[in-house]
Amino acid sequence: MKTALKSMTSPALDHFINQATAFGRQPSEPADCVLTLAPLMLALIDSAETFLTPQHYQSSADTYTRNLIYRAPDDSLSLYAIVWLPGQWTPVHDHGSWGVVGVVEGILEERSYVRLTPDRGADEEIDLARGGIVLLGRGAVTSFVPNPDHIHITGVPANRQRAVSLHLYGRTMNDFNLYDVEGRTRRRISVAHNES
Ligand SMILES: [Fe+2]
Repeated sequence: MKTALKSMTSPALDHFINQATAFGRQPSEPADCVLTLAPLMLALIDSAETFLTPQHYQSSADTYTRNLIYRAPDDSLSLYAIVWLPGQWTPVHDHGSWGVVGVVEGILEERSYVRLTPDRGADEEIDLARGGIVLLGRGAVTSFVPNPDHIHITGVPANRQRAVSLHLYGRTMNDFNLYDVEGRTRRRISVAHNES
């Protein structure tokens, strides 16, 4: 798998990756990571057209599409452009990592879940309640930190236009916890992405 991708020729993207990498090398709490990186994501959105290529806008009629922009050689960071066609949603999930999300097109909707039972590491007897929603328009930045992890779905309702968002995580995001709300369980699943 490639790490520094061919499309990474934009000074704005290079700056963002360099800053995130330098900060990631310091011992930091996840909350400090998102505190520092969220403003950088805010600036990156304005430069998105300088580094997003047609490959980053790939989409599928089947599901939302994760297009890799950058993956750190040591897997300590990853950045994706995610394309959400109308009606496409994630399952209920968490990330096991901090994350910073910025919207470059459309309105990304997030519907949160609140965990009612303490997380003692078990994958059963997990009670979740539906929580609030946020509507993230172009230029919006949101973030999350783990322990307890942020449980949510994100996507675009069928009556809205396509959304495109940038997602930076504190690891290569190739798997996450998927929750069965009615079954009160969770399980680890692998998630796919496209590479430029
Ligand atoms: Fe998520």
